[in-house]
Amino acid sequence: MKYDVITLFPEIINSYCAQSITKRGIESGIIDVKTYNPRDYSLDKHKRVDDTPYGGGDGMVLACQPIFDCYRAIEKKDNFEFIMLTPQGERFEQKTAVELSKKEQIILLCGHYEGFDERIRLGLKPREISIGDYVLTGGELGALILIDSISRNLENYLGKDKCAFEDSFSCGLSGLLEYPHYTKPREFMGMKVPDVLLNGNHKEIEIYRKAQSFERTKTRRPDLLE
Ligand code: ADE
Repeated sequence: MKYDVITLFPEIINSYCAQSITKRGIESGIIDVKTYNPRDYSLDKHKRVDDTPYGGGDGMVLACQPIFDCYRAIEKKDNFEFIMLTPQGERFEQKTAVELSKKEQIILLCGHYEGFDERIRLGLKPREISIGDYVLTGGELGALILIDSISRNLENYLGKDKCAFEDSFSCGLSGLLEYPHYTKPREFMGMKVPDVLLNGNHKEIEIYRKAQSFERTKTRRPDLLE
């Protein structure tokens, strides 16, 4: 999977991707993450990428030219998706992550300031995605959330954890919340690990975990059961 991220703050993307499982995914060649800064494509002599809004109002608006030229400079694979991160977009969910993991390439456009010149939407026709009903300063956190959650569905990405494929129940694909986990010691500050997890009976453990998942979903997120 190739991710191309259009951002005024490439360091946010690159520093995150240089850690943990994302780093391993890049090193093993399962994913590739490249950043493109629209400022590098600005024809303005001061390399400006934004301007004041027509009609007045606060804030700055990202201008068309640097974004169009930056987008055009990205080499496209046959099966790519172009996504704009915006609070006005469709809500991102696990099923969107699974769907997008079937693509070969995802191009992510991060906004900043007050927003994008509307002609970026009209001209480049991105799919617009929001990561939730709140407003962030920029699209970078959203882009990272997409990269992380989409990549988890790629074969071999999670290595030995590989739960997204082998145990979909515990990874959100069932639509239920995760069951509780425990590790050593058996007792901590008087709180004991449930006996069922200690008896080695895998069938019983599975039944217990499914029941816990169901119970948690019912009390915390009954909307998911519908
Ligand atoms: N940019 C600013 N807020 C956002 C949100 N909620 N989702 C995606 N991109 C955003």
